[in-house]
Amino acid sequence: MARASLGLLLLFLGRSLGRGCWDSETFATPKQSHSEWLAELKSWREGHSKRYQADAYKDPTLTWTRTSYVQPQIHLYDRFLFDGSWTPERYLDDLEHRYGGIDSVLIWPTYTNIGIDDRNQFDYFRAVPGGLKALTNLTASFHKRKVKVLWAYNPWDQATRDEGRHWDVLATLLKATGGDGFNGDTMTTIPLEFWEAGANRNFTFALEPEGGGVPCDDDFSSAGWTPLGWGYFGQKRADRMTMKYDYEPGVDKMKWLDPRGRHLTHVCDRWSKSRAAAIQLAFFNGDGYESWENIWGLYNQLTDRDAELLRRSATLLRWAGQRNLSHDFDEWVPHAPEATDASKGIFASRFEKAKEALWFLVNKGKEDAEIKVRIPEPYLAEGFEIFDLYHGKKVSPETEGVVELGIEASGISALLATQEPPRALLERMRKLSSTRLAEFSDLWHVLPQKMDPRPSSKIFDSSSPPPEMVLLPRMEFNFSSSGTEFEGGCDPAEDDNEICCRDGCVEHGAPSCQCGLVQLEYFGVDVQFPWEDRPGRNHRKALDLGPVLLDRDLVTNADYLRYLNASGYSPVDNFNFLKHWQTGRPKPGDEQKPVVNIGFEEAERYCRFYGKRLPHSYEWQLAAQGPDGRKYPWGDHWDPSAVPPPGHDPESIRKHEKGTSVFGVHDLIGNVWQYTDSFRDEHTRAVLLRGSSRYNPQVSEAFPSLHQSVNWYFPPARELNKHSKYFLMSESYERAGTLGFRCAGDVANGAPAPYHYRNGEENHKEVQFV
Ligand SMILES: *[C@@H]1O[C@H](CO)[C@@H](O)[C@H](O)[C@H]1NC(C)=O
Ligand SMILES: *[C@@H]1O[C@H](CO)[C@@H](O)[C@H](O)[C@H]1NC(C)=O
Ligand SMILES: *[C@@H]1O[C@H](CO)[C@@H](O)[C@H](O)[C@H]1NC(C)=O
Ligand SMILES: *[C@@H]1O[C@H](CO)[C@@H](O)[C@H](O)[C@H]1NC(C)=O
Ligand SMILES: *[C@@H]1O[C@H](CO)[C@@H](O)[C@H](O)[C@H]1NC(C)=O
Repeated sequence: MARASLGLLLLFLGRSLGRGCWDSETFATPKQSHSEWLAELKSWREGHSKRYQADAYKDPTLTWTRTSYVQPQIHLYDRFLFDGSWTPERYLDDLEHRYGGIDSVLIWPTYTNIGIDDRNQFDYFRAVPGGLKALTNLTASFHKRKVKVLWAYNPWDQATRDEGRHWDVLATLLKATGGDGFNGDTMTTIPLEFWEAGANRNFTFALEPEGGGVPCDDDFSSAGWTPLGWGYFGQKRADRMTMKYDYEPGVDKMKWLDPRGRHLTHVCDRWSKSRAAAIQLAFFNGDGYESWENIWGLYNQLTDRDAELLRRSATLLRWAGQRNLSHDFDEWVPHAPEATDASKGIFASRFEKAKEALWFLVNKGKEDAEIKVRIPEPYLAEGFEIFDLYHGKKVSPETEGVVELGIEASGISALLATQEPPRALLERMRKLSSTRLAEFSDLWHVLPQKMDPRPSSKIFDSSSPPPEMVLLPRMEFNFSSSGTEFEGGCDPAEDDNEICCRDGCVEHGAPSCQCGLVQLEYFGVDVQFPWEDRPGRNHRKALDLGPVLLDRDLVTNADYLRYLNASGYSPVDNFNFLKHWQTGRPKPGDEQKPVVNIGFEEAERYCRFYGKRLPHSYEWQLAAQGPDGRKYPWGDHWDPSAVPPPGHDPESIRKHEKGTSVFGVHDLIGNVWQYTDSFRDEHTRAVLLRGSSRYNPQVSEAFPSLHQSVNWYFPPARELNKHSKYFLMSESYERAGTLGFRCAGDVANGAPAPYHYRNGEENHKEVQFV
């Protein structure tokens, strides 16, 4: 959920903090003496570790979970993964290059698009190009590169198509595609039903609750079947999205619970522009990091410095993981006194196993620092050597077994006492650490976007427009529209369209101002129009528009049937193509309903066949709004009689003449969504949808779902100053039962409007109006 991821979980977090579960994923640092504090932690562990059966830890097919340190969440529509064809190698090579690669991947096709129609979350996996077969291939490609595959699971998705118990469907599909587990979005813990659904199919899979696995009621039994979890190891800031961390690193409760530390948490802070604190927290705990960058289509890329820090910490973690030293240990002493100097911001964990001791240290300070570590007696005996693993060199204890260690500002370090020097690791770390972290750029960038050029249509004669079209005259149009995305920040200072939550927010079910739409520093959510220097949620520009033609009506099923007959069009991939038709034609009575289940390029192709094109988002808005900036085609106040009643399928066109705009354009609001402009950046493609549909499902809080703070389903945009962003991937994925279109046409007696691009003018420069 948000999708949380639904992270959105964070949102969830907002509420759950009050209930005392989401905020308790870590133990706070020692306030009393370290030995008293440690004794308390141990006594907690002793009491609680009896409360679960360690089934998942005993299963040899799940030992991979203990060392799966780096796990990004990724949308299946990310262009590095799919851009006309599947390219897992390209995707993995990029991550390898930038931060040292990954151990598992969480694939996520559902939110942000889910809820536009009644396709359920599993249908989104089926709708990707090639469907489940392609996902089987994709999974195999990941496995070849030693990357495990987890699916997104959204427990709140109970309003769309029902296909039976979630746990059964999930286990069946994961087993069929060779998947390894799933992440339970918005779930603090994952119920036994899911684990058993696997067992019933002779299938063990890794369960990863977004909330980390710490129960709200002190019932830790699910720890026995959830070897993974996400960690929000800080407190939410006022923006409800980013994390504030204690200066002193907290101790992972779920990892601590298992006396041998076999649970792995992926520390998550997806909205942070600076990831160092979370990477340090993961390292301190011998934990993993959720290297999530494509957040609901917005690319929050790790800075070069953070990427390098992740590469180094993951290199050390993977080595220690293979050696079963930072998990499956004999002893873990967080805040080990011999290697901690809080005044310098240096904190350390000590892990011990058989005859080795390993310290993971972090420097929370903004300055390079040094610490003298006093090596405990047993590790000074004959045969032991001490290594500064971070710098890849041997260190010799001075008097009383003290070694001196330098740690870079906001950096990490590792110290090893062993009788078996790890030669390869030393060599590798020597190379990596020869460049100081400070030499890597810590600058955050937003990805620039481009609006896709739309070739001009044939040039129509404006004095005798085709009967099915209306002429929108040339005028200065004050275009103002805002995106409805739940996350990504909302700056009240730029909010002309009252989309941000100003005085608190309302939880899901409310028609507007959901709690996701809260202020957050700039992230570049939504789109970037050609006149804008960066993407943003709110758009405002006085545009010299028109004259231009627009279809009075939505393209209907009857129109589309005629088109198919005339054009001979037949899709290469017909998955969900005209899914609502029967035996190649509309069902009786559906002829005058808007055609749906058409991909974006298919809609463009239709318009082109008739010498037209899809409208720009601002042309659509002008046609709907007229010159006076009204909120709805009929005026400023919502009127249910001007639109189709809430429902499922589209209604026939022209049934609500009250909803007709001042220019005589019909069915603009509330019947079906309508395709307008498409945009792309390096990682995603998306199209702005206008008008909304009758279908508006609500998230569920019924088992196995929990409280939800936002209705994560595709947000409506019924007001004319709003649009929703629908992510594109392939015709199969885009075809939706509530999504149609109408076409526009250019005219002879006027240049294309300034923000329309003529054929060949694909460089997005403004065309001069003459
Ligand atoms: C799966 O992979 C095989 C072999 O690489 C290929 O022939 C097939 O077309 C792929 N199928 C899909 C649906 O991608
Ligand atoms: C269960 O799966 C394992 C491998 O995962 C296989 O060796 C075994 O034969 C399977 N048992 C049954 C009853 O299918
Ligand atoms: C670490 O543990 C795994 C799983 O128990 C085992 O297969 C592996 O041999 C161990 N590695 C070392 C270096 O002990
Ligand atoms: C557009 O907005 C500007 C600034 O708010 C205003 O001065 C101008 O008159 C408006 N133009 C039209 C056509 O409404
Ligand atoms: C299809 O086209 C043919 C000729 O091009 C025409 O005779 C026929 O009526 C058309 N059918 C439909 C359903 O439009």
